[in-house]
Amino acid sequence: MKGFTFQTTRHIVSEPGASAQLGPLMKGLGATRVLIVTDAGIVKHRLHAPALASLADAGIACETYAGVVADPPEAVVLAAVERGRQHRADGVLGFGGGSSMDTAKLAAFLLKSEQKLTEIYGLGACKGWRLPLVLVPTTAGTGSEVTPVAIVTTGASEKMGVVSPQLLPDVAVLDADLTLGLPRPVTAATGIDAMVHAIEAFTTKHKKNPMSDTLAKEALRLLAGNIRKACFDGADREARAAMLLGAMLAGMAFTNAPVAAVHALAYPIGGHFHVPHGLSNSLVMPHVMRFNLPAAAAMYAELAPIVFPTIGGATDAARAEAMIDGIAALIAEIGLETRLGQVGISHNHVPMLAEDAMKVTRLLVNNPREVGYADAVRIYEAAL
Ligand SMILES: NC(=O)c1ccc[n+]([C@@H]2O[C@H](COP(=O)([O-])OP(=O)(O)OC[C@H]3O[C@@H](n4cnc5c(N)ncnc54)[C@H](O)[C@@H]3O)[C@@H](O)[C@H]2O)c1
Ligand SMILES: [Fe+2]
Repeated sequence: MKGFTFQTTRHIVSEPGASAQLGPLMKGLGATRVLIVTDAGIVKHRLHAPALASLADAGIACETYAGVVADPPEAVVLAAVERGRQHRADGVLGFGGGSSMDTAKLAAFLLKSEQKLTEIYGLGACKGWRLPLVLVPTTAGTGSEVTPVAIVTTGASEKMGVVSPQLLPDVAVLDADLTLGLPRPVTAATGIDAMVHAIEAFTTKHKKNPMSDTLAKEALRLLAGNIRKACFDGADREARAAMLLGAMLAGMAFTNAPVAAVHALAYPIGGHFHVPHGLSNSLVMPHVMRFNLPAAAAMYAELAPIVFPTIGGATDAARAEAMIDGIAALIAEIGLETRLGQVGISHNHVPMLAEDAMKVTRLLVNNPREVGYADAVRIYEAAL
């Protein structure tokens, strides 16, 4: 057996209503003055009210920074850090989707460190430790609560990642009740993002390992089995809990068996056309998977009955193709856009997108089949 390493968040609390336990959890980490990092949508819906009450009961002084926006730019991270400094924060709570959790991770590190944001991009560049950090996801998507990754938008459209073990939180709290009101388009897009995490982890080229494989399969079972219910009956608590758990398991899988060409080709779409992360992935996913067939058919065929329990097909190739067709149909059924044209992308944009995708070598190297510029062009053309 090939050697491997595995890292994840060391303490996970998963229970509907668990965000009402955040006071004792934060106190247990030694925090007395907490910076809450979230976005305006969360505050408007008062999703953090039970958390605030619990923190107050525990005698913790809270300050809320609600300025996070989707695909957070550097200025948002720096503003969160400044707010934390003014509050003399000794702990950070990230509360929201991937954008809020990523901003919180960076704030927790930068509030303690002498390093600047621009010095920590890339792999393993963070030195020293961070403030106590708890993350509470409110989308069932990124799995950021169990990844050592934070993604920041730099300049107009480019995204950079900070990847350091310091960004894994002390505690991840899964409270599915927080996701009951997640609107259908966000449920659909973030759910497909999580499915992509599991599939790309399972087919990743260099770091595929038995733990990530096991997690990816269970993640897919939960996600594929519940995404329709979560989209069409948002109040279904069981379906919501399954999606939140599935997204976290997928996050654990791809942290240790990294994602590949779907994400690499999705990034320029998000960057240039401000398409949400999950939807960018969804738009290219079936087309990248079809491109991958010559290298990945057997692995897709292994996943096919997990994604669609009644799937047919006599050969690996037939089962793999049936799964890809099924996923394309699922994406349409849950109401997501299926063509790049629907988000304002035309034939003329393809060379720019393909050039930018080629720069995402960090992810492209993980793809089961090598992707060149001409391949990327063909994939985008197929998705138009
Ligand atoms: N750190 C990682 O490992 C990792 C992995 C993948 C993606 N990402 C990053 O995560 C970000 C995307 O995160 P996301 O897809 O979770 O979306 P998001 O955090 O940008 O949130 C999307 C929208 O959903 C709303 N929302 C969130 N929870 C809600 C709820 N329970 N009810 C109602 N509305 C709610 C928010 O207010 C926001 O308007 C991107 O920046 C992406 O690059 C990070
Ligand atoms: Fe993703």
